[in-house]
Amino acid sequence: MSDLTAKVTKPEAGSMQVDGYEALKYNFHYTSPVFDVKNEKLASIYERWQRVLIIMDKIVHPIYKDQIETYFKHYNIAITWKVVNGGELNKTMDTMLEIVDAMDEFGIVRTEPTLVVGGGLMTDVTGYACASYRRSSNFIRVPTTLIGLIDASVSIKVGINHRKLKNRLGAYHAPLHTFLDFSFLKTLPVGQVRNGFAELVKIASVGDKAVWDLLVKHGERLVETGFGYNGGEEVREAGTKICHQGIETMLELETPNLHELGLDRVIAFGHTWSPTLELTPRIPLRHGHAITIDMAYSITLAHSRGLINDAQRDEWFTLVSSVGLSMDHEDFTEELIAVATEAIKKTRDGKQRFAVPDGQFGQCKFLNDVPISELQSVLRTHKEFVKSRFGSGAGKEAFVDAGDLGAEPEAYAKGDATDGEETAESLKRKNIKGNGVKSAAVGAGAVPVNGSGHVTNGIVGTAECGC
Ligand SMILES: NC(=O)c1ccc[n+]([C@@H]2O[C@H](COP(=O)([O-])OP(=O)(O)OC[C@H]3O[C@@H](n4cnc5c(N)ncnc54)[C@H](O)[C@@H]3O)[C@@H](O)[C@H]2O)c1
Ligand SMILES: [Zn+2]
Repeated sequence: MSDLTAKVTKPEAGSMQVDGYEALKYNFHYTSPVFDVKNEKLASIYERWQRVLIIMDKIVHPIYKDQIETYFKHYNIAITWKVVNGGELNKTMDTMLEIVDAMDEFGIVRTEPTLVVGGGLMTDVTGYACASYRRSSNFIRVPTTLIGLIDASVSIKVGINHRKLKNRLGAYHAPLHTFLDFSFLKTLPVGQVRNGFAELVKIASVGDKAVWDLLVKHGERLVETGFGYNGGEEVREAGTKICHQGIETMLELETPNLHELGLDRVIAFGHTWSPTLELTPRIPLRHGHAITIDMAYSITLAHSRGLINDAQRDEWFTLVSSVGLSMDHEDFTEELIAVATEAIKKTRDGKQRFAVPDGQFGQCKFLNDVPISELQSVLRTHKEFVKSRFGSGAGKEAFVDAGDLGAEPEAYAKGDATDGEETAESLKRKNIKGNGVKSAAVGAGAVPVNGSGHVTNGIVGTAECGC
């Protein structure tokens, strides 16, 4: 929620000036299980309305529907459901307008908060609907994925994709409250847990040594057991510490820079070459795998510059390999490095700003002086190192699935995703050509690098994550 204060002055004859500032207030509550009838925190907010509009996706809704109904029934709060298609292909204006229509039909009262329960995608789309509805309306987030819990819901960015441009339309819109309940990880598929784990590796490597040490100690078990929610008290305790501390570090690093005006961003570690890499394979890499390949290469770069030693490099690679994250990919080529470096500089005011660990994990340095020839030679070193220790460096379940995409990836890659939800016509309307997921999966602004205005290896865009 935000509150604007402003005053009007007349600095000189014939002109007026408005000076204002906006106070921003939003809360995070750790509470679990949030939908336990004994836990009145969330219900107490809706008691005055006696009703709630809940937005969910089609995968999460059937899993939690009964529990949520029992919960609100206990408090005599009537539920109206709006269940929409999830997946990146549905992170669209159409879905956002479906939510707006639901708010209209519900007759949402000005200060009444819409409730969204879901992953980062659902909280982004619903948040954007609420940012736009009557110019601004309230919402409450209950994230249900690891990415949602430790990343998307930590920020106040909301948005949707537009054509091939990821997160191109959006707003900074703080929710009233965010309820962080890690027990949702019990039902989250391991592939999604691993995907979110990569963002924790990111924040720990360059922002928090204590979290790094805990990840090294418990990494494999954390991923296997959904942070201990599928067995393992000790690992659950460690997971809780990691997530709480990781979120705090994210908030400390990012809240002074909520509107992202500062471009030296620690949390951009792993997000330099990965936006281009993510969409290059025929079926896109999962975000967590793409950023881990980027981080792994950045670690090799830091090592080759003498910023970290052999033992530190080995510790880093051992952790990510033990949890099944990717360290390399055949499409991660010298050509891609050149293209992606130019692309990212455009978003970083012409500078490289490569975030790398500095001396120890938890410390960050920004490199701005790395010639392409050095980057390419480091890539050769990286590939040789990975091959000698870890084979291909491929991770587990490294590519997007139907849940991530909102269509069957194989059918989609062939350009005929007609699973009843995504017809050729609806894809056309979204300006998605279906000639390979890389052009279909949403990317951020195509990056012209040659005379014809296209990148040379078929890359059509870059995937800009919420980070
Ligand atoms: N706003 C931000 O700052 C920010 C930051 C990071 C990511 N994001 C955005 O978040 C999205 C990625 O987040 P995500 O991975 O959470 O996406 P998501 O919401 O698509 O969830 C991933 C998959 O998990 C399923 N799922 C969610 N919760 C579940 C549960 N508890 N049990 C079983 N299945 C469950 C979903 O149905 C979906 O298939 C992207 O669109 C990205 O742009 C935004
Ligand atoms: Zn990211």
